[in-house]
Amino acid sequence: MNDIFLKACRGEPVPYTPVWIMRQAGRYLKQYQKIRKRVDFLTLCKTPELAAQVTIQPIDALGVDAAILFSDILIPAAAMGMELKFSEKKGPVFAKPIRDRASIDKLLIPQPEESLNFVLETIRILRSELSGKVPLIGFSGAPFTMATYMIEGGTSKNFLHTKKMIFQNPDLYKSLMDKVAKTITKYLKAQIDAGAQAIQLFDTWAGVLSPMDYREFALPYVKRVIDGIKSQIPNPKSQNNCVPIIYFVGECSGLLEEIKSCNADVIGIDWRINIDEAIKRLGNNFSVQGNLDPCALFLSRDKIEKRVKELLLRAVFARGHIFNLGHGILPETPEANAIAMVEAVHKYGKKQ
Ligand code: CP3
Repeated sequence: MNDIFLKACRGEPVPYTPVWIMRQAGRYLKQYQKIRKRVDFLTLCKTPELAAQVTIQPIDALGVDAAILFSDILIPAAAMGMELKFSEKKGPVFAKPIRDRASIDKLLIPQPEESLNFVLETIRILRSELSGKVPLIGFSGAPFTMATYMIEGGTSKNFLHTKKMIFQNPDLYKSLMDKVAKTITKYLKAQIDAGAQAIQLFDTWAGVLSPMDYREFALPYVKRVIDGIKSQIPNPKSQNNCVPIIYFVGECSGLLEEIKSCNADVIGIDWRINIDEAIKRLGNNFSVQGNLDPCALFLSRDKIEKRVKELLLRAVFARGHIFNLGHGILPETPEANAIAMVEAVHKYGKKQ
């Protein structure tokens, strides 16, 4: 079994730097587009055989060292009772966003084995089909990022509704976050029980908060999720039982001192900070993941190689480094350039 990714997460010695790409299954792959012509995105997520098939596409096409479950961070919000649509132009849309007490009271804390069983079934199929080729990462949105979609009703520029709720009615916000954090903890524990070998929490939008607000309105709920999962794993420190938790925060550079107090194993870093500086500020308790600008994949092949080499060099003092982009790969990315990046990491990331 190729467990180099899991070893790097735990900070154990590795023969080379492992690599995977956030949003590695998606529209930049022709094989993905072929399937998407036949089925819409939500149907794809809810059909375990198809979701497993697109999860595996980038493993074969790119040769990455980990697979990530094909799903979306908003799937559990739908299971909480919110009506979710994906529009080609606007992305995800919740027709009835959360703005008051009554809408929070109506939200369910779903039993994953019931309303999210299609995700667990996808994981079971994947573990059997991957049969140890590469480890499988399960994931969820982190509480703050998931809540922003539920409150805004979709993607947002300035997160006005979320911040208004935080500042004008913090008790209301906190009661929503209570339910969201409970949902995510149960959901991730169920993913681990179904066979997920690592977990990533996506906090894409937490970087829009000031450090002070992040400390009060986002961090405690991430901690609750991470500690909740770790307390349910029999022996989190023993190698076989250890399911590493990766915590990714978009625009994390103003928040690293806060992030440091969470109990994740790996911190995902975007590209707006040099990775060596992030490593220095985080200290030695974490491995790091990232941090190539997704747009660097529009450079020529030799320039991609140069960027990869430089990034590997900057990360040399990390406890462990998992090479990745600093955010999801863009749909317009040439597939050949993603392959070139993976090859360069494997070539220049070899340890003596
Ligand atoms: O990484 C992977 O390959 C696994 C699959 C995955 C998807 N979304 C599939 C997807 C993962 C891990 C996500 C996470 C996700 N979803 C995040 C956090 C990571 C990030 O990129 O910030 C967020 C914020 C979402 C919410 C979301 N889903 C948006 C805003 C959109 C629309 C924008 C877009 O990229 O189209 C989606 C749709 C989505 N999720 C697609 C895919 C492959 C595109 C859907 C399509 O096929 O048309």
